[in-house]
Amino acid sequence: MSHIDKDNLPRHVGIIMDGNGRWAKKRNLPRSAGHRAGAQTLKTITEFAGNLGIRYLTAYAFSTENWKRPKEEVNALMDLLLKYLRDKDQLAGKDVVIKVIGDRSKLSDEINKEIDNIEEYTKDNPGMVLFLAINYGGRQEIVHSVRKLAENVSKGEISPDSITEDSISSYIYTSEIPDVDLIIRPSGELRLSNFLLWQSAYSEFWFSDINWPDFKTDDFAHAILDYQNRNRRFGGI
Ligand code: IPE
Ligand code: IPE
Ligand code: MG
Repeated sequence: MSHIDKDNLPRHVGIIMDGNGRWAKKRNLPRSAGHRAGAQTLKTITEFAGNLGIRYLTAYAFSTENWKRPKEEVNALMDLLLKYLRDKDQLAGKDVVIKVIGDRSKLSDEINKEIDNIEEYTKDNPGMVLFLAINYGGRQEIVHSVRKLAENVSKGEISPDSITEDSISSYIYTSEIPDVDLIIRPSGELRLSNFLLWQSAYSEFWFSDINWPDFKTDDFAHAILDYQNRNRRFGGI
């Protein structure tokens, strides 16, 4: 494999961690086993991405649409998330800052408490920032942002004609970081599934048939190398 150019890394990579269920089915295992294996892959890829020099990684863990799944599966996913968040040292090592994005109002008190704990515990870490998207939906995020903006308009702090793209960007969950440069989706699906809608206006996409639990550091490296061969024009020439 050719070499990754450390001077041309995507600043922000998004991953749609898909294919856990199909991975488990192929092995005659319960879907929850696929989710567990997927959580392990996230640890491996986070560490690899951090060592490579990626600054921001956003991992889609649970969408606003995933509540449609059978109750047992939703419960299994929530239990796993809880375990994952409690596993502070394993997950973040000494390096990674962890932040959660999404609508936390529908998550249990227990999960909310662990989110506060892990965000506090990792906030001064020196390494990359991992954003975990939990009960996240791009449209929900836009609704949340527009509501905040409308509150400020109704208080008379902003006038409607002064609203710009930048002002909307400043209300979204990832307002502190650059838009997503590269979105990786394994498992063969070719869609965004409501991930980072606002932030992906000009992102590059990398799709693969590999199910997320089988996704290896070499696959991540492959995605980065392909990204480095893209010509990002942003509408220019
Ligand atoms: C992704 O794997 C994990 C979540 C959506 C939480 P899936 O559970 O969607 O796996 P498939 O798509 O059924 O294989
Ligand atoms: C997207 O996967 C959401 C996450 C990976 C958390 P889904 O499996 O929910 O997406 P669809 O339903 O196939 O679009
Ligand atoms: Mg899926």
